[in-house]
Order: sequence, then structure tokens, then C-alpha cells
Amino acid sequence: MNSYKKMKSKIKLTLAISFCSLIVIILSLFFSFLFMSLNGKTAEKPQKRLILGFSQIGSESAWRTRNTQSIFEAAEANGIQILFDDAQQKQENQLKAIRSFIIYQVDVIAFVPIVESGWDNVLREAKTAGIPVIIVDRQINADKSLYAGFLGENAFEEGEKAAKFLLEKCADEEGEVNILEISGTENSSVVKGRANGFREILKANKKFNIIHSENGDFLRSRGKEIAENLIQESRDSGNFINDALYFDGKKIDAIYSHNDSMTLGLLDSFANYGINPAGTILISIDAEQKSIDALVAGKLNCVVECNPNLGEMLMNLVKQVAKGKHIPRITYNEETVFTEDDDFSKYEMRGY
Ligand code: AHR
Repeated sequence: MNSYKKMKSKIKLTLAISFCSLIVIILSLFFSFLFMSLNGKTAEKPQKRLILGFSQIGSESAWRTRNTQSIFEAAEANGIQILFDDAQQKQENQLKAIRSFIIYQVDVIAFVPIVESGWDNVLREAKTAGIPVIIVDRQINADKSLYAGFLGENAFEEGEKAAKFLLEKCADEEGEVNILEISGTENSSVVKGRANGFREILKANKKFNIIHSENGDFLRSRGKEIAENLIQESRDSGNFINDALYFDGKKIDAIYSHNDSMTLGLLDSFANYGINPAGTILISIDAEQKSIDALVAGKLNCVVECNPNLGEMLMNLVKQVAKGKHIPRITYNEETVFTEDDDFSKYEMRGY
């Protein structure tokens, strides 16, 4: 064979191989498409995972820890990635975190505002960047057009529930009812709601007097400290007896504590100093397992639930706003009341 013929047959061979390869590729594409169709699958483009920037205020209570956990669990279950920041109880840290979420261009921002005011500027920045924002657990007093909506508890109603219990409990009481209030973080919406709701119910009845209101920062250590001071003051005034507490010489008939951590702190001090104020009505908010245990043990009279399990509801809202949909301005979580009159055998473990 001369070299021309050799080259011709080589070209023919290469063309034949290429043709066969093409047929193989076409056939394999055809069969894989057929296989996917038979399996009910179509060759979809892989979905982009949503990124949620979430700023939590810290871990001041078991309630807060459960709240954070619930959000992480739901994000995982919904395939949403979280960029998390713990603000260590400082608004300035939250502002920094939200600005970093904007720079990172997350799909949605959610945050628990430690206080009610001071959010307008950062929310405006998020709006300019086209990132929707959801407010969680505590409310804000910013311009409503700057955020998509709020998800959390009805703090005003929680205060009302606490007062309704007290009203009923003292229905036959003819004398004055002196109340000591222990509130949480100053300027937070939840404290305002719980204080206002409580007062709203009691205001018509002159026998109820809030003789003192003190900020316990939602902390167990502060609840303990407040109780220690009361015990000391009761001692100094010469009124000290083991089954009652005094403020300004007045016997305290009821204590309304804005959260369980502070209430448990009070109980710590009572135990340390051997106080058993059986005649003092104790009302708390949150419904952590430890406070339910204290209710069952007869140490508390009423616990108003504040439900920390916001995760699943939040993820549903996140998915909607990420699609550009509107969400309700306010979404409240379901909450109940536990009292000394309940059938305790029906209680389930709280999970926080
Ligand atoms: O904002 C909700 C309150 O904050 C809870 O009652 C309290 O326990 C928490 O730290």
C-alpha cells in the first residue's frame, strides 16, 4: 500500500471511531433521561440553598437557649443555611452583625431585637440592599415599611394572663394586695408588654398596689440578688419572719416576675435563707421545666407560658419572603397558662 492509501484508510478508521463514540454518547444521554423519567425525576437545576443571617441576643435564660436551638433545628430540617451571631446582650453587636449579613448578601435577615428602638438606619440599609428582614420574639418601634413582619409572643396578653390569675386568686381578699414586680431588660418590648398588660387588668380594682418594680435583666443571678436585698431589708426593718417578705415596711402579698430565670433566682435565695413565703402569691412567665417543677412542688402559683419554639414558623416565613411574597405583619405563637389548680398528671415535659 502506498502512503496515500495508508492515510486514507487511517482517516476512515478515525471517522468510524468518532461516529461510534457519538452514537454511544447520544444513546447514554437518551437512556439516562429515560431512566430519570421512569423514576419520576426530571433533570432539574440544583436549587440554591437559602442563607439566613440570624442575630440572637445571647443566652441569658434556658428559654433563650431553647429559642436558638429551635431555630437551628428548623433551619436544618428545611435545608436553610444559617449565618449566626450571638450579640452577648448588646445592641451595638446586633447592629454590627446585621451590617455584616448585608455585606455577605444573605437572602433573608432575622433578628431578636434586644430593645425596641434604634433600628431604623440599619433596616434602611437592608432595604436598599434588597434583603427582607423578619423581627423575632421582641417587637420594634421602627417604620413598618422597613421590615417584612414580626414573629413571636404576645407579651401584652402574657401580662394580662398573669393579672387575671391574681385577680381571681384574690377575689375574696378585702384588704390591699401589695405586689412586687421584677421586670426584665429595660426598653425591651417584651417588658413593656408584660408590664402594661398586667396593669391594664388590675387598674380597675383599687386594692391592687404595685409597691415596687425592679429590673432583674431576665437573669437568675439578679433574681437571687433582688430576693437577698428584700430579705436584708425585711431584717433591717425588724419585720423579718420566715414566711413573709417586706418592702418599705409593707408586707408583700404577691410577686410578679417577668421570667422564670429571675423567679428561680428568687427561689434560690429563699432556700439559702430558709424562707418559706407560703402566703406570698408567686407568678412567673416562660414555663421552663424547672418552673413547672416548682409549680408542682407548690413553690409557685401560676406560670404563664412564653413559647420559645419559633423555628418552624420562622423558616416558613423565611421561604416566603425569599420568594418576594408578603407575610403577615404579626404572627403570634400559641401560648397557655399553668396554674396550681391544674391536673399535673396531664403535663408533658417542656423541653427547655
Ligand atoms: O423575650 C423573651 C424573654 O427573653 C423570655 O421571657 C426570657 O426568658 C428571655 O430571656
